[in-house]
Amino acid sequence: MLTPLVGMQDADITLQSRPHDLAHWNPSGKLAVVTGASSGIGRCLSKRLTEAGCRVIAVARRADRLQSLADEIHRDGVDDRLQPIRGDVTDPATHDQLESLIRSRGGSLDLLVNNAGIGAIGSFEEATESRLRKIMEVNFFAPAQLTRRLLPYLKSSDDAVICNLGSVLGHRAVPDKSEYCASKFAMHGWSDSLRAELAGTSVRVTLVSPSTTESEFFDVLVDSDANATSKSFGSWPADRVAAATLAAIGKRRSEVILSLGGKLLVYADRLCPPLMNWALRK
Ligand SMILES: NC(=O)c1ccc[n+]([C@@H]2O[C@H](COP(=O)([O-])OP(=O)(O)OC[C@H]3O[C@@H](n4cnc5c(N)ncnc54)[C@H](OP(=O)(O)O)[C@@H]3O)[C@@H](O)[C@H]2O)c1
Repeated sequence: MLTPLVGMQDADITLQSRPHDLAHWNPSGKLAVVTGASSGIGRCLSKRLTEAGCRVIAVARRADRLQSLADEIHRDGVDDRLQPIRGDVTDPATHDQLESLIRSRGGSLDLLVNNAGIGAIGSFEEATESRLRKIMEVNFFAPAQLTRRLLPYLKSSDDAVICNLGSVLGHRAVPDKSEYCASKFAMHGWSDSLRAELAGTSVRVTLVSPSTTESEFFDVLVDSDANATSKSFGSWPADRVAAATLAAIGKRRSEVILSLGGKLLVYADRLCPPLMNWALRK
């Protein structure tokens, strides 16, 4: 059962016709859907968007977390700009609910952030098919299908953005994260293709590729050893990633790779793949 958690009236999310500046995308007065808003990057980004005057429909499975985010935002004096929707992104009923909510708000959506994601650590050979399927469902099929469903509403906006949260591991794969790397490479390729298909429309596609981020991500790994650890070259707090994501959307960037460690991984691999193969060998 999917339930809106706060009693937001239809009139609370009003879409205004607004002139837009071609150089920047301004969140003020816009309507956004953010998936995976109950923790980490999605939570911080939802908060930043509402503070910037955006109305946010925040989606995740943990209703209590969404409610506490809504309470925090509304307590800080920002009016009821965040509407929590409890739902699983892989469930078509969640897509139905989002679609009908957007229709009831006027039928136009300005920003879709495909952020919900999960990971796993461990050898491919020793893992199960179920781990592969779970990760591909949440990280790739769900955002792709949700985007297809919401595209008509994004196209109704005169200035819309689809922001996909990828990963540096969608540019350079590493051992023991085969399913996750595959899902983020899929998201990367799909984002590039969609961007080209939508060129000439009012909808842009931004791919944001963070490297290690301090969040709950590593606490909820799928079918992974409890002691599994991950190599990282420094990490960013989730709110820093959220700020960089909002800046990338605002500047209408097609793609951003975050953090020095992330840039080193991706660009060193482009310059000299054998060197990176050697550095990353198990
Ligand atoms: N953390 C990193 O090191 C890192 C690095 C690069 C990229 N990323 C990417 O950044 C994105 C956000 O990750 P994060 O670091 O912020 O992790 P996080 O704190 O674990 O947040 C993940 C969010 O996704 C939601 N989610 C997971 N499965 C879902 C489902 N089936 N339906 C709806 N919501 C679901 C979770 O909410 P519920 O559990 O309440 O549903 C949570 O809100 C992911 O796409 C991740 O791949 C993370």
